Amino acid sequence: MANILCIGAGYVGGPTMAIVAKHCPHHRVVVVDSNATRIAAWQSADLPIYEPGLEEVVLGARDRNLFFSTEVNRHIAEADVIFVSVNTPTKSFGQGAGKAADLQFWEKTARQILENSTSPKIVVEKSTLPVRTAEAMEYILNSNTRGLHFDVVSNPEFLAEGTAIRDMEQPDRVLVGGRETPSGQKAVEVISEIYANWVPKERIIATNIWSSELSKLAANAFLAQRVSSINAIAAICEKTEAHVVEVAHAIGLDRRIGPNFLKASIGFGGSCFQKDILNLVYLCEYYGLYEVANYWEQVIKMNDHQQSRFVSNMVSTMFNTVAGKRIALFGVAFKANTSDTRESPALNVCRALLEERAELVLTDPHALANARADLGALAQRITFEPDPYVAAKGAHAIALLTDWADYAKLDYSQIYQNMVKPAFIFDGRNLLNHRQLHEVGFNVHAIGKPPLTHSANNGYAGNQRF
Ligand code: UDX
Ligand code: UDX
Repeated sequence: MANILCIGAGYVGGPTMAIVAKHCPHHRVVVVDSNATRIAAWQSADLPIYEPGLEEVVLGARDRNLFFSTEVNRHIAEADVIFVSVNTPTKSFGQGAGKAADLQFWEKTARQILENSTSPKIVVEKSTLPVRTAEAMEYILNSNTRGLHFDVVSNPEFLAEGTAIRDMEQPDRVLVGGRETPSGQKAVEVISEIYANWVPKERIIATNIWSSELSKLAANAFLAQRVSSINAIAAICEKTEAHVVEVAHAIGLDRRIGPNFLKASIGFGGSCFQKDILNLVYLCEYYGLYEVANYWEQVIKMNDHQQSRFVSNMVSTMFNTVAGKRIALFGVAFKANTSDTRESPALNVCRALLEERAELVLTDPHALANARADLGALAQRITFEPDPYVAAKGAHAIALLTDWADYAKLDYSQIYQNMVKPAFIFDGRNLLNHRQLHEVGFNVHAIGKPPLTHSANNGYAGNQRF
């Protein structure tokens, strides 16, 4: 039996360790966090994050071989393997502000491990980190004068929120990067063995530690780049009467391109894509690779542009003013099936519409509490309404911002009856049946598609070709 510890009970640490505990009943898994409220929630019936399938896994293992605690120091002392999953946000101050990763929690955790260890340990980097962070980690940990040896292993997580449990249960691959020394290789084996309890061996890949660190940044950069690429094509579609869904389908059938991650949208959000690309950009600049840095930065610029384009389209379509108009925003989570609103494009749309003095009603099945917290003082100017029918009542427009499947199942003719006419719907996720909505009476504006309107001249720039 091994004592496995995870420091950081967030979106990554919690679900990851729940799956480890499920498949390794012979190991003891403890998840600690400095945030006592979060730990209390993990111990309660009301888990701190919404993730399909998570509750069942947690309830199955909790208090058997899965424990949540705030006693960080005691559990560090007892652990053989320590996963570190604390947050590494974009730095907001000093050198590298706005791009580099803020490693203060990471370093603090390394020192905490050092202070409380009386036996050798394997320390696993689970948080996304700049390349060569392991070097600093090793340096701090092995600076001890007690003769303790620490091996640092990189094991990035690739789970996506909303499908975290499935991604952990059936990962495309598990990456374990270690030093090419005998003890480094042994550490890679120990970590690989944990995963081998449920992941086929051929999917567990051992690499050198720097490749592993960089692969995480590279994977997220490639994924985000696909979203920005299809969104760039969507912008051209709107000017040319091409349909982005048809274009995505046509290009996705090319096996070299593939069909996934080609959904045009109001842009990507989430805690990882932007942060990791900025991190990559900073790394490139640090190494003097300025052209490479500019290349990746463009992925973020295109994403920002997509959101401002969406808002401009809304304003120009609604007769160049939304001031004082009630607008219902359907969805604020950064994607469906999560309560997470970090870097949600919906929040950017929300802020931009407030600038235009629109009267906003925000609805979402799971993310309203997080949205309220994120919006801070602005929240006072917004109505939060869990029921989409109530949210849309009396509105001039609906903007669909998160791809919750339930939003496709609403009775839009009932919704239409209760809206101000002409009623507009802006589908920022291409989720709805646009033809049907048009038949109901809506003026329908989607991403990368010609609008379906009831007026030949409603001011929408997309009608004017070239
Ligand atoms: C985190 C990182 O942000 C991401 O880069 C990485 O890929 C995976 O881990 P996430 O789990 O989504 O992602 O972050 P978050 O939900 O913020 O959880 C981090 C937890 O660490 C928080 O609960 C926080 O309280 C805790 N923490 C942070 C500590 O316990 N100690 C600290 O010193 C700092
Ligand atoms: C991502 C990576 O997928 C995951 O491997 C990594 O560990 C963490 O970062 P996540 O941010 O949870 O996961 O969600 P993801 O499904 O990748 O979606 C990111 C954003 O892109 C969402 O806002 C989503 O709506 C958007 N997106 C995704 C699109 O707009 N179009 C697409 O085709 C796919």
